Amino acid sequence: MNKSKITMEQLVSYAKRRGFVFQASEIYGGVAGMYDFGPYGVELKNNIKKLWWQEMVYINDNISGIDSAIIQSPKVWEASGHVERFSDPMVDCKSCKKRFRADKLANVDSVDIPELTKLVNKFDCPNCGGHDWTDIRQFNLLMKTFLGPLEDDNAVAYLRGETCQGIYTNFDNVRETTRAKLPFGVAQIGKAFRNEITPGDFLFRQREFEQAEMQMFVDPESADKIFSQWKERRMKWHETILDKGNLRFREHGENERAHYAKDAWDIEYNFPFGFKEMEGIHNRGDWDLSRHSKFSGKELEYFDEESKKRFTPWVIETSVGMDRLFLAVLADSYTEEQVGEETRVVMKFKPSLAPVKVAVLPLSKKPELSKLSREVFEIISGDINVEYDETQSIGKRYRRQDEIGTPLCVTVDFDSLEDNAVTVRDRDTMKQERIKIAELKSYVQSKLN
Ligand code: GAP
Repeated sequence: MNKSKITMEQLVSYAKRRGFVFQASEIYGGVAGMYDFGPYGVELKNNIKKLWWQEMVYINDNISGIDSAIIQSPKVWEASGHVERFSDPMVDCKSCKKRFRADKLANVDSVDIPELTKLVNKFDCPNCGGHDWTDIRQFNLLMKTFLGPLEDDNAVAYLRGETCQGIYTNFDNVRETTRAKLPFGVAQIGKAFRNEITPGDFLFRQREFEQAEMQMFVDPESADKIFSQWKERRMKWHETILDKGNLRFREHGENERAHYAKDAWDIEYNFPFGFKEMEGIHNRGDWDLSRHSKFSGKELEYFDEESKKRFTPWVIETSVGMDRLFLAVLADSYTEEQVGEETRVVMKFKPSLAPVKVAVLPLSKKPELSKLSREVFEIISGDINVEYDETQSIGKRYRRQDEIGTPLCVTVDFDSLEDNAVTVRDRDTMKQERIKIAELKSYVQSKLN
């Protein structure tokens, strides 16, 4: 087995060729930083989301889920600090007019503008080789739109830059309707938008992406303890999906932390372009609820019946980019194996993540085989995604399913007409077993579990 790292070029081309990810508006030349998920991509992404939702909402009796609007009152983004501070430093090459993120160009994490200016001036333009930079300016990443027919300042609204703000604004609604006591969490999966100056590295830095965020409201006195519990828990969860050797923690330096964070750690994944942030775990202190309380005029405090204390809860946040996790799962699962003279590409997805769970493959297109194969398809489909494929040689169809990462292939052959049994091939071992059609559904279920 060859687990040597897949290159970014291989990954992008694989994702397109096998129907996982397409460039958005490809027929019009594409849009930078936007992608569409194809038939297998949407399945894989939904499966990742399902695992996350189970891990957050279903196994914890103190976490519930919500789905808040993408566009909220613009005041939300003033209160959150995004209108004022959610920006990246940008610089333009005066020769070719190309725009860059200054910190990425200088390859530094967080330094002040005078220092960054000195560093950027050491570099030539990567696009044209020129050496004539504009001043560095801050560029706000919030995407703007207008609500209603008048496109004036009063109609400005923002597409959400992070999903968690809809959780803070619903703090009291969720607390009251679920009768939750601290500590309790609220989880949400949804789209977020950032007008990134230089989107890139495929799904890694997009302008429209998906976040899965959980905000745990806590008593300030237990914040540190709950923060370290979640930090460890999140790493353990990633280790159930990804190779442990490709995961690591990174602590944010004081200058690097977002405006809301008292403590911040990343879980990084070893992407084809190196270790980079996949999830952020933050102690946000009382920033969110106190700011929303101040800006909305609504008190967002908590009264603890036992201690008779009234206080503003702190927030411990876990925030993972679904697209980055999707990219990590693709890179982690991609395997090349030597089979005789051939190299087979196989995606070793966990069965729970595999986009297609079973492929039903009639050995030939003869009507009697097609009829039985359709019956087999109906027996096992419904709860899980099953593919039916009767084109090309059986060998080619196996290889195709290996590349999609389908755990089981069910072949219906001429003996099946006599013995009411089918051959089931395991993706990883390539071993084949003869199974009675009457037992197929429970066999498939036990294999996938
Ligand atoms: N609510 C906290 C928050 O939004 P963040 O570190 O800015 O924190 C959280 O973002 C996660 O969202 C990141 O760890 C990353 O996985 C994902 N993310 C952020 N910007 C992204 C982008 N431009 N494209 C894809 N994913 C992104």
